[in-house]
Amino acid sequence: MTERIVLAYSGGLDTSVAIGWIGEATGAEVIAVAVDVGQGGESLETIRQRALGCGAVEAYVADASDEFANEYCMPTLKANALYQGHYPLVSAISRPVIVKHLVKAAREFGATTVAHGCTGKGNDQVRFEVGIQTLGPDLKCIAPVRDLALTRDKAIAFAEEKGLPIETTKKNPYSIDQNVWGRAVETGYLEDIWNAPTKDIYDYTATPEFPPAPDEVTISFEAGVPVAIDGVRVTPLQAIKELNRRAGAQGVGRIDVVEDRLVGIKSREIYEAPGAMALITAHKHLEDITIEREQARFKATVGQRWAELVYDGQWFSPLKRSLDAFIEDTQRYVTGDIRMVLHGGQAIVNGRRSETSLYDFDLATYDTGDTFDQSMARGFIELWGMSAKVASGRDIRVAGK
Ligand code: ARG
Repeated sequence: MTERIVLAYSGGLDTSVAIGWIGEATGAEVIAVAVDVGQGGESLETIRQRALGCGAVEAYVADASDEFANEYCMPTLKANALYQGHYPLVSAISRPVIVKHLVKAAREFGATTVAHGCTGKGNDQVRFEVGIQTLGPDLKCIAPVRDLALTRDKAIAFAEEKGLPIETTKKNPYSIDQNVWGRAVETGYLEDIWNAPTKDIYDYTATPEFPPAPDEVTISFEAGVPVAIDGVRVTPLQAIKELNRRAGAQGVGRIDVVEDRLVGIKSREIYEAPGAMALITAHKHLEDITIEREQARFKATVGQRWAELVYDGQWFSPLKRSLDAFIEDTQRYVTGDIRMVLHGGQAIVNGRRSETSLYDFDLATYDTGDTFDQSMARGFIELWGMSAKVASGRDIRVAGK
């Protein structure tokens, strides 16, 4: 029986050419698998037909947009996950869900190998292959760009020679990856890190310099998950999409960073994640009133570690799973409403309310009638400073000798 290979297919030039390229290099049959993670653009049926036109024996489309929002974006939101303080893990969280569907397709179509279109320099090859090793330990991995010398020039020549139904002339200097959680753009003139991004690279966000009138929005959460926007019930997917639209119109969520890749390279990336950044901001402010101080401080470091693990391709690892359990436990009381104004590139919270809030007006107020006994503070401060005071006494004693 001819060997079968499942290919992660995007519909673009590289993976379209990879279908025939893999076939010629290995003699295997190729099954193209496209996964909908809310990337928009062409219809998945168009993409499916193109895969068949490029020589795939089967083309399979998985609608994973709700699954991606519920099981990948929501944990990222609960963790307030921002890799290196900036990046909401847009591409990093899409790889594990794509892997799940690739492995499923490999089982269904009797494939022995999974292929992806990543280069040998990035994080995504690691995320794909670690994921595949974990979910399908018997499956082999192959990356035609990395392992079968499929360069861009060769891809264009191959497509033209074979008359593949794909555009080869449209010159796009950027490498773009996008899904409902956001969009990542790199390469081209952006590789000179002094160059400012030009307007043409943005798609999810409008220029914040000329914003429309301020847009006030109320986001309601239950146990850390957005459930309503301005009082209208929404699913997580709908919440992200609605805020992509409204925060995007105000230019919220543009990020320009140099980040540390797992493979040891620093690289420049432009992100746009209007919905994700608006949601993370609102969620963080709701946590500020509903999570106890020590739990909140510890959670911040857990969230950071969680982001590193996910960035580094450890989505299916035991530590990530344990941190998920911790984070989930912290979300129990993260229920309530956040009001925020979206305007001119910013999402600014200006109101919060919650039945499970720890904010106590009677303790906090400076008006008369507060319930806080200020006389308790003197003794507290005395004891709080005690160990440092004893140590400084020792410093003076030793220096005097
Ligand atoms: N640097 C990001 C990450 O490693 C995005 C990778 C994909 N970016 C791209 N423009 N193709 O998660």
